[in-house]
Amino acid sequence: MPTTRFRPALTMRGVTLTYPDGQNRVTALDDVDLTVGRGEIAAITGPSGSGKSTLLAVAATLARPDRGEVLFDTAAAGAVDLARLSRRDASRVRREHIGIVFQQSNMVSSLTALEQLEVMTHLGQRFAVSRVARRRTRERAAALLDAVGLADHAGKRTGQLSGGQRQRVNLARALMNDPTLLVIDEPTSALDQERGAAIMDLILEVAREHDAATLLVTHDRRHLHRMDSVHRVVDGVVTTLDTVAA
Ligand SMILES: Nc1ncnc2c1ncn2[C@@H]1O[C@H](COP(=O)(O)OP(=O)(O)OP(=O)(O)O)[C@@H](O)[C@H]1O
Ligand SMILES: [Mg+2]
Repeated sequence: MPTTRFRPALTMRGVTLTYPDGQNRVTALDDVDLTVGRGEIAAITGPSGSGKSTLLAVAATLARPDRGEVLFDTAAAGAVDLARLSRRDASRVRREHIGIVFQQSNMVSSLTALEQLEVMTHLGQRFAVSRVARRRTRERAAALLDAVGLADHAGKRTGQLSGGQRQRVNLARALMNDPTLLVIDEPTSALDQERGAAIMDLILEVAREHDAATLLVTHDRRHLHRMDSVHRVVDGVVTTLDTVAA
């Protein structure tokens, strides 16, 4: 496997995950080795049903592999094996260190764009939040909406936003807690070419700026040359490609 020029943030070793399938099991990930460093943007490609979303789910602690290690290195908490965390610890790591952008975004339709971002910070906090902390949260939310070009739409509810604008709210929301790891599943599939390219520019820019290790599933080959690494998934087997050849 090629060595990465980035400081490793996520290292998968021998990760295998199967799903029940009638009497048998289907192997969605088959002995996967993968390393993504801080500030590295890793593209994940491959045919439908090959295991891409499952790979992201494992990285984001949303699915637990049958076998293998998922070593995650946060500057604050040190290295942990995500495959061995309790549910409770996994949800804490996810909340504090991982930004998730899935296609079927879980946005609360009654909240405004600004509020969608604000709730991220105080989620799971057991004590009353001070006014100062709330103000800081609001300022960060406003700055991120501005960064994704939605400053003028901060007060709009989800239902009043276009698909592309919602994708941008999703991205801003995933960055709220300054994640070490960003997992993004097919951000451009619902968008036209121009908006797709703009979202991709934005992802590359914010991921680099935040020094987040980024796993990005995309079918769009036109953007692959801009990624730091490209990994192809076929039948659950991951092969790391030479970026130039991809
Ligand atoms: N919850 C589940 N239960 C059973 N099988 C599943 C489940 N989720 C995914 N699978 C199966 O695991 C395999 C990998 O699915 P996955 O969703 O990871 O593919 P994908 O590469 O993301 O595909 P697509 O490009 O269509 O999104 C497929 O064969 C799929 O049918
Ligand atoms: Mg998928």
